[in-house]
Amino acid sequence: MTDIAETARHHERVLVIDFGSQVTQLIARRLRELNVYSEIHPFQNVTDEFLKDFDPKAVVLSGGPASVFDEGAPMPPASLFDYGVPVLGICYGQQVMMHCLGGTVERGHGTAEFGRAYVTPRDEVVDLLDGWFDDGDREQVWMSHGDHVSKLAPGFSVYGTSPNAPFAVTADLDRQFYAVQFHPEVHHTPKGARLYENFLRIAGFARDWTMAAYKDEAIRLIREQVGDKKVICGLSGGVDSSVAAVLIHEAIGDQLTCVFVDHGLLRLNEAEEVVAMFRDNYNIPLIHADESDLFLGELEGVTDPEVKRKTIGRLFIDVFQKHANEVGGAEFLAQGTLYPDVIESVSFSGGPSVTIKSHHNVGGLPEKMGLKLVEPLRELFKDEVRALGRELGLPDRFIGRHPFPGPGLAIRCPGEITREKLAILQQADAVYIDQIRKHNLYDEIWQAFVAILPVRTVGVMGDYRTYDYACALRAVTSVDGMTADYYPFSHEFLGETATRIINEVKGINRVTYDITSKPPGTIEWE
Ligand code: XMP
Repeated sequence: MTDIAETARHHERVLVIDFGSQVTQLIARRLRELNVYSEIHPFQNVTDEFLKDFDPKAVVLSGGPASVFDEGAPMPPASLFDYGVPVLGICYGQQVMMHCLGGTVERGHGTAEFGRAYVTPRDEVVDLLDGWFDDGDREQVWMSHGDHVSKLAPGFSVYGTSPNAPFAVTADLDRQFYAVQFHPEVHHTPKGARLYENFLRIAGFARDWTMAAYKDEAIRLIREQVGDKKVICGLSGGVDSSVAAVLIHEAIGDQLTCVFVDHGLLRLNEAEEVVAMFRDNYNIPLIHADESDLFLGELEGVTDPEVKRKTIGRLFIDVFQKHANEVGGAEFLAQGTLYPDVIESVSFSGGPSVTIKSHHNVGGLPEKMGLKLVEPLRELFKDEVRALGRELGLPDRFIGRHPFPGPGLAIRCPGEITREKLAILQQADAVYIDQIRKHNLYDEIWQAFVAILPVRTVGVMGDYRTYDYACALRAVTSVDGMTADYYPFSHEFLGETATRIINEVKGINRVTYDITSKPPGTIEWE
């Protein structure tokens, strides 16, 4: 555990034991949305000692792809059911509970259930489902299971059924053990958040996990970790590194220096805006490294997307190192690493060793430079980082910004990158984003940008023939960038935007709208 992870030690917390479900992360999110701190740990790591050390106030057992009949089937620690805290089992978690406590689970033959189902209460409405049936006698849930429970463990009763799941909701009220067949963490279980809220109430949580509390403790821990040493932070202008920088600055003031590397591939006025925000609002020591000549020089003639990315990555590290040396004697590097980047994922094939997804915003740097990491956001989800940013007083307009990739406009300029094309792209992008903001669509869209295409087309403007670039507008909805759908703009919006871009941006005479989803496309063009 990092020093910063100690932040959570002072809070009542839920332990989520991960059995490998695709949606385990959502459980932690739902709990955090209810102001309760929770951590996900893979079942292999949760030993009896771990449980005692973690000291949860309640435990959630996630779903998972395994069957309790499998050899070496994933199990919770032996002491869990005597530990004396409420336990909620979900799907595989329910099966494990029944299996461990003396019930029976059966193989899925013919009773597998995937997708929408409706739960009806049995006799009384159990406290876990408080508020579920106010608008009717059944409620939608999301099922995804092969095996199912066929006999309840002693002490358990049924409180809800669905046509294919006679044990959809079960509980042993005396021991505060609850087990459901469906997935309350997904959106398709509309009252799922209410179920978690009820569970937390039953478990007696104070629900005091607020960003204000997190901020104060994080600041204390940053001070403890860093002492009187110097810290450097690479700023990209994105939300994560900005929030990390402002938080660390509150903790240690001028011991922090930020380095903002301008590679010449930023959006219109972006460098000025980021630098002004940091200098004017926060008075944070900031090195503004204008290295656009270097980057654009090395990218001259490069057309292969991978070569572009590698060139940018290599130069970034060189430049960062050069400027970091100016800070003199920094021992720490701050990064805006988030929780989804560090959650350990369950590996069924790899035995006790688990894969750790570790994402470094400036990959390779710490090792090369011998720096220790300060990662004050590694406990947080993206929306929590935004909430923390608000708590720190970052402007809303800044916090809500769409993600922007490290290689910047280079990957929105297929083919050769030239200053001329970049300038046209910046202008077109600014008009497009202005249109989106004017129509109040910015916050509905996950990411929107223009790509300038490596093709010129013929047009006619007034009495003149034009031979200019074509561009593509991109706008997607997404939750995490892993999958995405194109945003369904109205034809009116698209027409108006095309007209504005062609009229206002010299160098573009044709506008197209990219309606590819991901997969099969990617969000960026390269
Ligand atoms: P793709 O194009 O892979 O992008 O569908 C998914 C999300 O990731 C962003 N992206 C990057 N972000 N460095 C980054 O920091 C990169 O090299 C990079 N490549 C893609 C992209 O903008 C989208 O939000």
